Amino acid sequence: MSTLLILDTSPRGDAVSRQLTDQFMQAWNQQNPDGRVIHRDIGTTPPAHLDDELIEALRKQPETLTPRQKAARAASDAMIQEMQEADVIVVGAPMHNFTVTGALRTWIDHIARPGATFGYDPETGPYGLLDDKPVYVISTRGGKYGYGDPDDPHPADFQSGYLRHVFGFIGLKDVRIIAANGMDMGPDPRAEGLAEAGTAIKEAISKLAA
Ligand SMILES: Cc1cc2nc3c(=O)[nH]c(=O)nc-3n(C[C@H](O)[C@H](O)[C@H](O)COP(=O)(O)O)c2cc1C
Repeated sequence: MSTLLILDTSPRGDAVSRQLTDQFMQAWNQQNPDGRVIHRDIGTTPPAHLDDELIEALRKQPETLTPRQKAARAASDAMIQEMQEADVIVVGAPMHNFTVTGALRTWIDHIARPGATFGYDPETGPYGLLDDKPVYVISTRGGKYGYGDPDDPHPADFQSGYLRHVFGFIGLKDVRIIAANGMDMGPDPRAEGLAEAGTAIKEAISKLAA
């Protein structure tokens, strides 16, 4: 049985990225009628920003934990476990100030954990601990920033390269960007961007099925 993890990260209830992650999930469900979907919405329920107490809890594994540290460690463990269990990960990623939303940035602080998702070799440096699997980033943007192609990067798209790097850092090297450009540019360009993203989602699902 295949497992899909959907991570929604928009703070907006009626987010375009949520519509697109839902579109992905429905198409995936058709291909995988017995599949399991894990849905985590950190846009509406964001993890806490790291402070001194939480850094201690997540990075140092102290012997005695405060109740808040215990809860943060358990939440982080759960978020990592669902990434391990997933065969495919889909991230709804609105562009905020040229990069990811605050919630997604904070989630990364909770899941990029030494000893859990990455290790460090004094000779060769850091290495990822997660098994590689496709990660689809559905990036909704008010303006137009290309398609997250590493061979043709847009100078103001600090989201695609960042996510490719940080996921690669924890072992997920197969990051595929699905861009919905021009979401705040009026009805017509928006329709064009949504249609492009919809086509890219269909292509992604048929590639996964192949
Ligand atoms: C705080 C904030 C920052 C934003 N920054 C950018 C930006 O840097 N570039 C851009 O094109 N759009 C920006 N936008 C617009 C969003 O990317 C756009 O509305 C997108 O469709 C939001 O996706 P969502 O509906 O899934 O939340 C920003 C929106 C907000 C609320």
